[in-house]
Order: sequence, then structure tokens, then C-alpha cells
Amino acid sequence: MNSYDKTHALMQRGRDFLGTEHAILCGAMSWVSERNLVSAISNAGGFGVIACGAMTPDLLDTEITETKARTDKPFGVNLITMHPDLNDLIAICAKHEVTHVVLAGGIPPKGSVEAIKDFGAKVIVFAPTLALAKKLLRSGGDALVIEGMEAGGHIGPVSTSVLAQEFLPVLAEDHLVFVAGGIGRGEAIAGYLEMGAVGVQLGTRFACATESIAHENFKKAFFRANARDAVASVQVDARLPVIPVRALKNNGTQEFTDKQREIAGSLDREEVAMAEAQLQVEHYWAGALRRAVIDGDVENGSLMAGQSVGMVKAEEPVADIMAGLMGECEAALARR
Ligand SMILES: Cc1cc2nc3c(=O)[nH]c(=O)nc-3n(C[C@H](O)[C@H](O)[C@H](O)COP(=O)(O)O)c2cc1C
Repeated sequence: MNSYDKTHALMQRGRDFLGTEHAILCGAMSWVSERNLVSAISNAGGFGVIACGAMTPDLLDTEITETKARTDKPFGVNLITMHPDLNDLIAICAKHEVTHVVLAGGIPPKGSVEAIKDFGAKVIVFAPTLALAKKLLRSGGDALVIEGMEAGGHIGPVSTSVLAQEFLPVLAEDHLVFVAGGIGRGEAIAGYLEMGAVGVQLGTRFACATESIAHENFKKAFFRANARDAVASVQVDARLPVIPVRALKNNGTQEFTDKQREIAGSLDREEVAMAEAQLQVEHYWAGALRRAVIDGDVENGSLMAGQSVGMVKAEEPVADIMAGLMGECEAALARR
């Protein structure tokens, strides 16, 4: 039996909040974070989060039921704030008495935080700036995730180390802050915990776990990749502000550039409004990620991955990854 006393002491507030043994979340990853990976994370003492992404309410209903059949430990649901059926998705979470809802993808629309709290769930929010973080925590957010640009998927412009130095000294005493982006080993977790974080969120390190349903081609691409292969997408048209996405470089990266030119052309010809153009971009990502994760098309699909991908070298069970991270963190703290 391993002892993680020092780590657990620093994670205590995060563990109490999540109801878990370890305050390590596996961030929602569209197509990857489904019943198998989510339950494996929670069964290993961490906190799994279902990626609702573009799911319909019915699909989310089934996914929660199937996850509950695989674990009796706590897990959360990630909802994207711009989903057209957000209210119905919240109702599904209420029906299942989901304990934690993560709101991603922008400022939560009016009433959504209240609707989640009404059925007793905790709300986890993201914020790219300190001012917005304070506002969201004042208006009902129970915990905050700060995520740096090293992360896989949609990213902001600032690194995790800078966000941590900016947010933690101001917020950590009175609020629950989890740090995400670029975390590959437990030594880094130790550092953020010492700065006041109550826990961490990882995605890339868990994406290719044995329990992950990601296609073996997707996993192999991760094992081959180095940190420098996980690049941020570029914006080609100033009028079409797209949120950058970090993914492994392939044909799909070039296709996205072409797709943006095509959508910008539609904007020029006034065939689509800006909101619709941005939605088209997001749909493109969801489809491209599915092609890589589910179909195994690693040439043309999107291989969303963070810079920690260089530390993912082989398929490992979630429990082993978790034990590795906790052991490294504990050893680092013991050496202090
Ligand atoms: C393949 C992949 C898909 C992702 N999809 C989503 C998503 O649908 N919603 C979301 O909020 N974050 C998404 N993320 C971000 C993760 O939840 C997590 O915050 C991030 O991976 C943490 O940084 P790391 O990759 O450096 O560990 C995704 C990340 C990856 C690698």
C-alpha cells in the first residue's frame, strides 16, 4: 500500500470537493472521455469527466447511465456553454443527480449556473483572465480550472506557469483552483500544489490509457510524437476569430487552414453570419477529432494533443498512470 500523505494533505480541499481519493481530474476529451475511460479514472481514485461535446440529450442520458453501471465513485459531466440544447442537457444531469458539472467553452449563459445549482450539483468553471475568474466565482462557480496553452484541444494564449503565478496567489486562499495544461509528471503536480492549487487536471497523459477507446492508430501517433509535434492552429483571417487548437501536425492541420479560408470566403460573400461561421469552425473540429479518435484516420483527422504528449510512450492502465503521478509527486514533496 502506497502512502501519499504529503500529497493528500496538500490536495485535501480538492479531495473533499470532488469526493475522491486523489484530486486529479481527467479533463473531458470529446470522443475519448466516454463511459470506459471516465469510470476507469474514477475507479482509480481520480475524477473522470464525461465529454458531452456535441452529444444530444438522449446520448448524454445513456452515457451517464452506462458510466454509473461501471463505477460507484464520483464523476462529472462537461457541458459546452454554446451547445444549442444546453438547458436540456442540464435537465439530463439533474435527472441523474450528477454531482459536478464542468462548464467549458466560454462565459456560461444567464441562468445556466443557477439551473445546475438548483439540483444540488457543484459547478466547475474555466476562466482565461483573473477578472473573469473572480466574476464567475462570485456568481456561483464553486471551483475554477486554469488551463495553459501547453494543453491539448482548444487553448488560450498564456502558459500554465504564468497563469498559475497570476491566479494562485490571489485566489487560492478563498477558492478552489485546479491547474491544467502541460502536466506530464508528478513533480509538476507537487509544484502547483505548493503554490496553492487544490488539485490538477490532465488530458493528454490519460488519452491513450488501456481503457481509452481511442483507435490504435491514434494511440500510436501519440507514442511516436514529441512535444514539438503538438502545434497550435493558426488563424488565417482577422475577421474570423477562431480559438486555437493544439494538435499533432498532419494533413488535417493544413485542411483546417483551407477550411478557414473557405468559411472566410462565405463571410465575404455575406452567405453566413459571424456566429454561424464560428459554429461551422467548431463543427469542423468535432468531426475531425472523431475521424482520428474513432475511425483511426490519423492523416486527415484531428489529433488533439498537448505538449506533454512526448511523455506518453506506451499504453498503460489508468491505475498505473495514476499511481505513477501520485508517487512522483509524493517523492518530490518528500525531498523538499
Ligand atoms: C483529444 C483531446 C480532446 C479534448 N476535448 C475537450 C473537450 O471536448 N472539452 C473540453 O473542455 N476540453 C477538452 N480537452 C482539454 C482537456 O479536457 C484537458 O483540459 C487538457 O487536455 C489538459 O491539458 P493536457 O492535455 O496538457 O493534459 C481535450 C483535450 C484533448 C487532448
